[in-house]
Amino acid sequence: MQKANPKPPVKWAGGKTGLIPQFEPLFPKKEFTLYAEPFVGGGAVFFHLLPSKSILIDSNEELINFYLVVRDNLEELLTDLKNHKNRKEHYYSIRALDPQALSPVERASRFLYLNKTAYNGLWRVNSQGKHNVPFGRYKNPKIVDEVNLRLVSEALRAADVLCDDFSRVLDFARAGTFVYLDPPYYPLSDTANFTGYTADAFGAQDQERLAGVFRELDRRGCLVMLSNSDTPFIRQLYSGYDIQVVYARRAINCRADRRGPITELVIRNYQ
Ligand SMILES: C[S@@+](CC[C@H](N)C(=O)[O-])C[C@H]1O[C@@H](n2cnc3c(N)ncnc32)[C@H](O)[C@@H]1O
Repeated sequence: MQKANPKPPVKWAGGKTGLIPQFEPLFPKKEFTLYAEPFVGGGAVFFHLLPSKSILIDSNEELINFYLVVRDNLEELLTDLKNHKNRKEHYYSIRALDPQALSPVERASRFLYLNKTAYNGLWRVNSQGKHNVPFGRYKNPKIVDEVNLRLVSEALRAADVLCDDFSRVLDFARAGTFVYLDPPYYPLSDTANFTGYTADAFGAQDQERLAGVFRELDRRGCLVMLSNSDTPFIRQLYSGYDIQVVYARRAINCRADRRGPITELVIRNYQ
Protein backbone atom coordinates (compact mmCIF):
# COMPACT_ATOMS: atom_id res chain seq x y z
CA MET A 1 0.00 0.00 0.00
CA GLN A 2 1.21 3.52 -0.81
CA LYS A 3 0.90 6.57 1.43
CA ALA A 4 -0.65 9.33 -0.73
CA ASN A 5 -3.87 8.68 -2.60
CA PRO A 6 -4.07 10.03 -6.14
CA LYS A 7 -7.29 11.64 -7.33
CA PRO A 8 -8.99 10.23 -10.44
CA PRO A 9 -7.05 12.00 -13.23
CA VAL A 10 -10.10 12.45 -15.48
CA LYS A 11 -13.65 13.61 -14.91
CA TRP A 12 -15.83 10.64 -15.77
CA ALA A 13 -19.60 10.15 -16.07
CA GLY A 14 -20.68 7.96 -13.16
CA GLY A 15 -17.48 8.68 -11.19
CA LYS A 16 -17.68 7.29 -7.66
CA THR A 17 -15.55 9.77 -5.69
CA GLY A 18 -18.60 11.20 -3.87
CA LEU A 19 -19.75 7.74 -2.78
CA ILE A 20 -16.48 6.55 -1.23
CA PRO A 21 -17.51 7.42 2.38
CA GLN A 22 -20.69 5.33 1.97
CA PHE A 23 -18.71 2.50 0.30
CA GLU A 24 -16.10 2.34 3.06
CA PRO A 25 -18.12 0.05 5.42
CA LEU A 26 -19.18 -2.07 2.42
CA PHE A 27 -15.69 -3.01 1.20
CA PRO A 28 -14.54 -6.51 2.24
CA LYS A 29 -13.14 -6.76 5.76
CA LYS A 30 -11.08 -9.78 4.65
CA GLU A 31 -7.70 -9.41 2.95
CA PHE A 32 -7.84 -10.00 -0.79
CA THR A 33 -5.05 -11.29 -3.00
CA LEU A 34 -6.02 -9.50 -6.21
CA TYR A 35 -8.27 -6.53 -7.01
CA ALA A 36 -10.20 -6.44 -10.31
CA GLU A 37 -12.23 -3.52 -11.67
CA PRO A 38 -13.75 -4.40 -15.08
CA PHE A 39 -15.50 -1.01 -15.67
CA VAL A 40 -12.70 1.14 -14.29
CA GLY A 41 -13.69 4.54 -15.79
CA GLY A 42 -12.12 7.32 -13.68
CA GLY A 43 -10.99 4.68 -11.18
CA ALA A 44 -12.28 6.35 -7.99
CA VAL A 45 -12.42 3.05 -6.08
CA PHE A 46 -9.06 1.80 -7.36
CA PHE A 47 -7.28 5.06 -6.49
CA HIS A 48 -8.90 5.00 -3.07
CA LEU A 49 -8.00 1.39 -2.23
CA LEU A 50 -4.55 1.36 -3.88
CA PRO A 51 -4.36 -2.45 -3.84
CA SER A 52 -0.96 -4.10 -4.15
CA LYS A 53 -2.00 -6.06 -7.28
CA SER A 54 -4.84 -5.14 -9.69
CA ILE A 55 -6.44 -5.85 -13.05
CA LEU A 56 -8.18 -2.80 -14.54
CA ILE A 57 -10.43 -3.18 -17.59
CA ASP A 58 -12.57 -0.79 -19.62
CA SER A 59 -13.93 -0.97 -23.16
CA ASN A 60 -13.03 2.69 -23.83
CA GLU A 61 -9.86 2.63 -25.95
CA GLU A 62 -8.98 6.28 -25.34
CA LEU A 63 -9.19 5.88 -21.58
CA ILE A 64 -7.08 2.71 -21.52
CA ASN A 65 -4.45 4.20 -23.84
CA PHE A 66 -4.32 7.20 -21.47
CA TYR A 67 -3.73 4.99 -18.39
CA LEU A 68 -1.02 3.00 -20.19
CA VAL A 69 0.77 6.18 -21.27
CA VAL A 70 0.53 7.72 -17.77
CA ARG A 71 1.98 4.50 -16.36
CA ASP A 72 4.71 3.89 -18.94
CA ASN A 73 5.50 7.24 -20.67
CA LEU A 74 4.69 9.96 -18.16
CA GLU A 75 7.58 12.31 -18.98
CA GLU A 76 6.74 12.33 -22.71
CA LEU A 77 3.09 12.95 -21.90
CA LEU A 78 3.93 15.89 -19.61
CA THR A 79 6.03 17.42 -22.41
CA ASP A 80 3.28 16.97 -25.02
CA LEU A 81 0.60 18.43 -22.73
CA LYS A 82 2.49 21.75 -22.77
CA ASN A 83 1.38 22.18 -26.44
CA HIS A 84 -2.27 22.56 -25.45
CA LYS A 85 -4.03 25.86 -24.86
CA ASN A 86 -7.46 26.64 -23.43
CA ARG A 87 -8.66 28.36 -26.62
CA LYS A 88 -11.74 27.64 -28.67
CA GLU A 89 -9.95 27.30 -32.07
CA HIS A 90 -7.27 25.06 -30.57
CA TYR A 91 -9.97 22.94 -28.88
CA TYR A 92 -11.86 22.30 -32.11
CA SER A 93 -8.67 21.57 -34.08
CA ILE A 94 -7.63 18.97 -31.48
CA ARG A 95 -11.14 17.51 -31.27
CA ALA A 96 -11.14 17.04 -35.06
CA LEU A 97 -7.98 14.87 -35.04
CA ASP A 98 -8.35 11.16 -35.68
CA PRO A 99 -6.98 9.53 -32.50
CA GLN A 100 -6.00 6.39 -34.46
CA ALA A 101 -3.57 8.49 -36.53
CA LEU A 102 -1.74 9.81 -33.45
CA SER A 103 1.08 8.25 -31.41
CA PRO A 104 -0.05 6.76 -28.07
CA VAL A 105 1.45 9.78 -26.24
CA GLU A 106 -0.26 12.36 -28.52
CA ARG A 107 -3.49 10.42 -28.21
CA ALA A 108 -3.34 10.42 -24.40
CA SER A 109 -2.47 14.12 -24.41
CA ARG A 110 -5.49 14.90 -26.66
CA PHE A 111 -7.72 12.80 -24.41
CA LEU A 112 -6.69 14.59 -21.20
CA TYR A 113 -6.84 18.02 -22.86
CA LEU A 114 -10.39 17.43 -24.17
CA ASN A 115 -11.47 16.00 -20.80
CA LYS A 116 -10.24 19.12 -18.97
CA THR A 117 -11.57 21.72 -21.41
CA ALA A 118 -14.78 20.18 -22.83
CA TYR A 119 -18.19 21.35 -21.68
CA ASN A 120 -18.93 19.66 -18.33
CA GLY A 121 -15.66 17.74 -18.66
CA LEU A 122 -17.57 15.07 -20.47
CA TRP A 123 -16.16 12.38 -22.70
CA ARG A 124 -18.98 11.56 -25.05
CA VAL A 125 -18.83 10.09 -28.52
CA ASN A 126 -21.42 9.89 -31.27
CA SER A 127 -22.56 6.70 -33.01
CA GLN A 128 -19.40 6.80 -35.19
CA GLY A 129 -17.25 6.95 -32.06
CA LYS A 130 -16.29 10.64 -32.65
CA HIS A 131 -15.93 12.96 -29.64
CA ASN A 132 -18.76 15.51 -29.92
CA VAL A 133 -18.71 17.66 -26.77
CA PRO A 134 -18.47 21.45 -27.32
CA PHE A 135 -15.75 23.70 -25.87
CA GLY A 136 -16.34 24.33 -22.15
CA ARG A 137 -15.17 27.99 -21.90
CA TYR A 138 -13.56 27.43 -18.48
CA LYS A 139 -11.48 30.40 -17.28
CA ASN A 140 -8.46 28.50 -16.05
CA PRO A 141 -8.80 24.71 -16.26
CA LYS A 142 -5.96 22.73 -14.69
CA ILE A 143 -4.97 20.75 -17.79
CA VAL A 144 -1.75 19.45 -16.23
CA ASP A 145 -1.79 18.44 -12.56
CA GLU A 146 1.73 17.08 -12.54
CA VAL A 147 1.82 16.11 -8.86
CA ASN A 148 -1.36 14.07 -9.18
CA LEU A 149 -0.31 12.48 -12.50
CA ARG A 150 2.89 11.27 -10.83
CA LEU A 151 0.85 9.64 -8.05
CA VAL A 152 -1.49 8.11 -10.64
CA SER A 153 1.49 6.75 -12.61
CA GLU A 154 2.94 5.15 -9.49
CA ALA A 155 -0.41 3.59 -8.52
CA LEU A 156 -0.87 2.17 -12.04
CA ARG A 157 2.52 0.42 -11.86
CA ALA A 158 0.82 -2.12 -9.59
CA ALA A 159 -1.86 -2.82 -12.20
CA ASP A 160 -2.44 -4.69 -15.45
CA VAL A 161 -4.56 -2.41 -17.63
CA LEU A 162 -6.64 -3.87 -20.47
CA CYS A 163 -9.02 -2.56 -23.11
CA ASP A 164 -11.68 -5.25 -23.29
CA ASP A 165 -15.19 -6.30 -22.43
CA PHE A 166 -15.90 -6.73 -18.69
CA SER A 167 -16.24 -10.51 -19.10
CA ARG A 168 -12.45 -10.69 -19.57
CA VAL A 169 -12.26 -10.54 -15.77
CA LEU A 170 -13.06 -14.26 -15.81
CA ASP A 171 -9.55 -14.91 -17.19
CA PHE A 172 -8.05 -13.61 -13.94
CA ALA A 173 -10.50 -13.91 -11.05
CA ARG A 174 -9.86 -16.70 -8.54
CA ALA A 175 -11.00 -17.44 -4.98
CA GLY A 176 -9.88 -14.48 -2.85
CA THR A 177 -10.04 -11.89 -5.67
CA PHE A 178 -12.08 -8.75 -4.85
CA VAL A 179 -14.06 -7.62 -7.91
CA TYR A 180 -15.80 -4.22 -7.97
CA LEU A 181 -18.26 -3.86 -10.87
CA ASP A 182 -19.55 -0.40 -11.81
CA PRO A 183 -21.33 -0.80 -15.16
CA PRO A 184 -23.23 1.88 -17.04
CA TYR A 185 -26.43 2.05 -15.00
CA TYR A 186 -29.72 0.57 -16.05
CA PRO A 187 -31.87 3.65 -16.82
CA LEU A 188 -34.45 4.90 -14.31
CA SER A 189 -36.69 5.83 -17.24
CA ASP A 190 -36.54 5.56 -21.03
CA THR A 191 -35.37 9.15 -21.40
CA ALA A 192 -32.71 8.91 -18.68
CA ASN A 193 -30.44 6.57 -20.62
CA PHE A 194 -27.22 8.58 -20.87
CA THR A 195 -25.35 5.60 -22.33
CA GLY A 196 -27.87 5.46 -25.18
CA TYR A 197 -26.10 8.46 -26.70
CA THR A 198 -22.69 6.85 -26.80
CA ALA A 199 -21.07 4.29 -29.07
CA ASP A 200 -21.16 1.72 -26.23
CA ALA A 201 -24.85 1.54 -25.24
CA PHE A 202 -25.29 -0.99 -22.43
CA GLY A 203 -28.77 -2.50 -22.61
CA ALA A 204 -30.87 -4.97 -20.62
CA GLN A 205 -29.13 -7.93 -22.30
CA ASP A 206 -25.73 -6.63 -21.18
CA GLN A 207 -27.10 -6.25 -17.63
CA GLU A 208 -28.21 -9.89 -17.76
CA ARG A 209 -24.83 -10.99 -19.13
CA LEU A 210 -23.19 -9.06 -16.29
CA ALA A 211 -25.41 -10.76 -13.69
CA GLY A 212 -24.19 -14.08 -15.15
CA VAL A 213 -20.56 -12.99 -14.67
CA PHE A 214 -21.41 -11.89 -11.09
CA ARG A 215 -22.80 -15.36 -10.33
CA GLU A 216 -19.76 -17.08 -11.88
CA LEU A 217 -17.40 -14.91 -9.78
CA ASP A 218 -19.46 -15.81 -6.70
CA ARG A 219 -19.24 -19.52 -7.57
CA ARG A 220 -15.44 -19.22 -7.76
CA GLY A 221 -15.21 -17.76 -4.25
CA CYS A 222 -14.42 -14.17 -5.25
CA LEU A 223 -15.63 -11.22 -3.15
CA VAL A 224 -17.96 -9.34 -5.49
CA MET A 225 -19.42 -5.83 -5.12
CA LEU A 226 -21.55 -4.13 -7.80
CA SER A 227 -23.14 -0.69 -8.16
CA ASN A 228 -26.28 -0.03 -10.18
CA SER A 229 -29.47 1.99 -10.29
CA ASP A 230 -32.26 1.36 -7.81
CA THR A 231 -34.77 -0.19 -10.22
CA PRO A 232 -37.05 -3.24 -9.98
CA PHE A 233 -35.16 -4.89 -12.88
CA ILE A 234 -31.78 -4.68 -11.08
CA ARG A 235 -33.26 -5.71 -7.70
CA GLN A 236 -34.78 -8.75 -9.37
CA LEU A 237 -31.57 -9.65 -11.29
CA TYR A 238 -29.64 -9.83 -8.00
CA SER A 239 -32.35 -11.12 -5.67
CA GLY A 240 -30.75 -13.50 -3.18
CA TYR A 241 -27.63 -11.32 -2.77
CA ASP A 242 -27.02 -8.64 -0.14
CA ILE A 243 -28.52 -5.37 -1.44
CA GLN A 244 -27.62 -2.06 0.27
CA VAL A 245 -28.96 1.38 -0.57
CA VAL A 246 -26.62 4.38 -0.92
CA TYR A 247 -27.50 8.00 -1.63
CA ALA A 248 -26.01 9.72 -4.66
CA ARG A 249 -26.28 13.22 -5.97
CA ARG A 250 -28.29 13.28 -9.15
CA ALA A 251 -26.62 14.32 -12.37
CA ILE A 252 -27.37 17.92 -13.37
CA ASN A 253 -31.03 18.18 -14.25
CA CYS A 254 -32.90 21.20 -15.55
CA ARG A 255 -36.10 20.07 -13.85
CA ALA A 256 -36.12 21.15 -10.20
CA ASP A 257 -38.24 18.14 -9.12
CA ARG A 258 -35.52 15.82 -10.45
CA ARG A 259 -32.69 17.36 -8.44
CA GLY A 260 -31.57 16.23 -5.00
CA PRO A 261 -30.27 12.82 -3.84
CA ILE A 262 -31.44 9.55 -5.36
CA THR A 263 -30.95 6.04 -4.13
CA GLU A 264 -28.53 3.63 -5.81
CA LEU A 265 -27.81 0.00 -5.05
CA VAL A 266 -24.67 -1.76 -3.87
CA ILE A 267 -24.99 -5.51 -4.33
CA ARG A 268 -22.56 -7.91 -2.64
CA ASN A 269 -22.06 -11.65 -2.30
CA TYR A 270 -20.56 -11.15 1.20
CA GLN A 271 -21.43 -9.22 4.35
C1 LIG B 1 -20.19 3.99 -14.53
S1 LIG B 1 -18.72 4.08 -15.48
C2 LIG B 1 -17.51 3.60 -14.28
C3 LIG B 1 -17.14 4.78 -13.39
C4 LIG B 1 -15.99 4.52 -12.43
N1 LIG B 1 -16.36 3.61 -11.37
C5 LIG B 1 -15.49 5.82 -11.83
O1 LIG B 1 -15.42 5.98 -10.60
O2 LIG B 1 -15.14 6.73 -12.61
C6 LIG B 1 -18.85 2.69 -16.54
C7 LIG B 1 -17.62 2.37 -17.41
O3 LIG B 1 -17.89 1.15 -18.13
C8 LIG B 1 -17.24 1.21 -19.40
N2 LIG B 1 -17.90 0.18 -20.24
C9 LIG B 1 -19.05 0.27 -20.94
N3 LIG B 1 -19.35 -0.93 -21.51
C10 LIG B 1 -18.35 -1.78 -21.16
C11 LIG B 1 -18.08 -3.17 -21.42
N4 LIG B 1 -18.91 -3.92 -22.17
N5 LIG B 1 -16.98 -3.73 -20.88
C12 LIG B 1 -16.11 -2.98 -20.13
N6 LIG B 1 -16.31 -1.67 -19.85
C13 LIG B 1 -17.41 -1.08 -20.35
C14 LIG B 1 -17.39 2.65 -19.83
O4 LIG B 1 -16.38 3.00 -20.76
C15 LIG B 1 -17.26 3.40 -18.48
O5 LIG B 1 -15.92 3.82 -18.26
